[in-house]
Formats: sequence, C-alpha cells, structure tokens
Amino acid sequence: MLAARLDESDPLASFADRYRVPDDVLYMDGNSLGPASDAALASLDRVVDEWRDLLIAGWTDADPPWFGVGERLGDALAPLVGASPSEVVVGNSITVNVHTLVGTFLDELLAGNGPEREGVAAADGSWDPAVEPAVLVNELDFPSDHYALRAQLRQRGIDPDEKLRVVPSRDGRTIDPRDVEAALAAHDDVGIVFMPTALYRSGQLFDVERIAAAAHEAGAYAGFDAAHSAGAVPHEFDAAGVDFAVWCTYKYLNAGPGSIGALFVAERHHGLDPALAGWWGHEKATQFEMNMTFTAADSAGAWQIGTPPLLSAAPLEGSVELLREAGIDRLRAKSLALTDFLIALVDDRLPAVSVGTPREHAARGGHVALEHPDGERLSAALNDRGVIVDFRPPNVVRVCPAAPYTAFADVLEVVDEIEAILDADAHEAYATSEGGVT
Ligand SMILES: Cc1ncc(COP(=O)(O)O)c(C=O)c1O
Repeated sequence: MLAARLDESDPLASFADRYRVPDDVLYMDGNSLGPASDAALASLDRVVDEWRDLLIAGWTDADPPWFGVGERLGDALAPLVGASPSEVVVGNSITVNVHTLVGTFLDELLAGNGPEREGVAAADGSWDPAVEPAVLVNELDFPSDHYALRAQLRQRGIDPDEKLRVVPSRDGRTIDPRDVEAALAAHDDVGIVFMPTALYRSGQLFDVERIAAAAHEAGAYAGFDAAHSAGAVPHEFDAAGVDFAVWCTYKYLNAGPGSIGALFVAERHHGLDPALAGWWGHEKATQFEMNMTFTAADSAGAWQIGTPPLLSAAPLEGSVELLREAGIDRLRAKSLALTDFLIALVDDRLPAVSVGTPREHAARGGHVALEHPDGERLSAALNDRGVIVDFRPPNVVRVCPAAPYTAFADVLEVVDEIEAILDADAHEAYATSEGGVT
C-alpha cells in the first residue's frame, strides 16, 4: 500500500505522537486552528504556575521573565520567515497589526517618504506628497484585511472606494501575479502593495520576492499577510526585500485559539512612529520611566501596543520549539508530499470533485481546496464522520493535511470517506446555511 510505504519513510512520522488529536478524529483543519501539542501545553502550564506562584513578580522574575515575551517569541519565529531577531515580534492580532503597519506606512508616504531598496531606482526613499497614496490588494483577500485598510485610508481623508485598488481574479480562485504587475504599471499612485503570501480559500502561494520586487520597482512598499503560510512554508522576508508582514499563530503555528499575532518590520524601517502607538512599543530601557512622550523601540517591538496577553502567548513557545525541531524545510517537503498524494487520489477517485489549488509546488500552500457544487453539505457530512474540514463559500471544502501530525494513511482515509459519502449521496441529508462561517 502506497500510503503505508510513504508513512514508513516519513522522517517526521513520530511527531504526530506529540500532538493531541483525538483518536477518532481525522483533523484536516490546522489551517484554521492548529491542535494542541504536549510542548505547547507545557509552556502554557509553566506560565499558569508562574502566575499562581509569582504574581506580579512574574514580569521580572519568571524564567524567562514575562516582560520581554514579545521580543523573545519574535526571536523564536524569525528563522521561520527569514528575518533577523529584531525584525519580528509577537503582539496584538493580525487585524490590529494590519491597522498599525499599513497606517504607519501610509503616514510615511503622506510625509513624502517612500520605500528604499538598494539596487532599485524607483524605491529611492521618496514619495511625492502631493499624490494621495493608494493601496493595492486583490479581490480574494481575507475580508478583515480590506476592512482595516479601508479604515486606515478613511482616517487619513483618503477615499477607499478610489484608493483601495483591487486586482481582480481571472478564475475566482487565484490571482495571476502578472495582473499585480499590470495594476502597478497602470496606476502610478500605488504606495503600498499588500498581498497575502497564500490565499485563504484556494491556498494559492505567491512568489513573495517577485511581488516585493514589482512593488519596489513601482516605488511602493511591499507588505504581506502570511497567515496561511507562516509555520508551513519557509519564507525569506529579508532576502525578498519585504517591508512588513503580519501573521497569526493559531493556524500552522499551533499556539491555540485566539493566540497572539506576529509581525515583521524590516530593519531599515525601525525607529518609525507606529500608527497605533502604545506603551508596550516604547523603548524598553525607559518604558517604566512613564514619560508622556513616546520613544519608539528601535526594533519591530515598537509595533506592540499594550500589555501582551501572556496566556495567549505562552503556548507558542512550546509549539514553535516543536516545529523548529522538525525543521521548516522538512515540514514543507512533507506538506507538499501530503498534498500531492491528496490531489492524486482526488483526481483518480473523485470525478465529481475538482482541485481548486494550483498544482505547481511553488504556487501551493499547505491546504487543498476541493470544489464540489454541494461543498457545504459535503463538509457537514465529513465533520459528522469525524473528518474535520471546513467550508468556504461558494463551493470549497478546505482539506489541510498539516505536516507535523498528519499521516499519509490519514489522507487516504479522508478520500475514502469523501468517496463513500458521495457514492451514497449521504451529504444530501445535511442542510445548508446561507452564508456559512467565514
Ligand atoms: C488571511 C487572514 N488574514 C486575516 C485574518 C484575521 O485574523 P485575526 O482575526 O487574528 O485578526 C485571518 C483569520 O483567519 C486570515 O486567515
């Protein structure tokens, strides 16, 4: 049996024992919420114990002290995204981080400061302050990002209906990077290109370096939402010239529901005033002098806002350690092998289902979008049988065989279940809801 052979030669197979996925569940939803691991629960337990035993002294006397949690966990995440430790911090949530980072760079543009990148003439560090900056996005983005971007434009008196420029999709699933480049060529007011590293519905993975280069060529900053790739796909943000990025830790980083957000700001931008300033982003050495004037930390730490939620950050310490032990390159290799296997099985055995995720490895993130006209009911039938997937309108069942805890045999079982459901029309017994969960 192919699945068994693949599992036998999987160097990461033993990691599954360190995650708490119930035995009667095939968990294929780690792209929404990763499962608990022994390591994450242990680091959470440690902080709970510190709270009980040390009380307020935990900020300084816990081991390690809570005070530097944002920077410390940022250091742990930095290698996963190809950044130096001072460029990554954990804090806030994705949406809040979009607000503060896009706001910061809009303020820079309005002050006449553009991106600066060695070797790229257009990114010469200047912007014509008479030009109201536009933000370039795409129509398949996660909606919360657009809400935040529109609000940031509005708050600066810029009309989002005009200046949030949206690259359309040709097929409703993917965005052709050439269309991003064409939009940049067509409009000379784009000051920020804000793109996902991977689309939340189809799982299309973008060439971050190509998009960043196109942005800089057009004199625009390049920002990314890496929610659907951080922890699953290795990134090289520094080498790619990314200006800033945001991501969450509750998906592929397995730090728990609503766990703390993360962000990257390239070193060349350190020292800027964050749009949403708060005391936790103050220069650390003088934070407790309680000055009324804000002095930004000289690192990505400046974009923290208020007191970090320790209990929502604590599991990340253990969960990242586990991923680092597995190795991001080995995780990515296994993830591609798992999604290859899934796609091949779907092609072979499920004629009513089509694959909406790009087949090229370079354009595929960590999950596979299975399209079926009755996707919502199919998803409900699968969940009812312990195959945990999710549905995204209009017709997508997302299946995520996440590398750290999924076996090839699990993927085979998922396809067996889908085939059995569709053959028996068992999904027809399930109701659809208007809209569904987003
Ligand atoms: C791509 C993407 N961006 C933004 C968000 C919103 O994140 P948050 O609720 O943490 O602000 C999500 C949530 O799943 C997401 O998938």
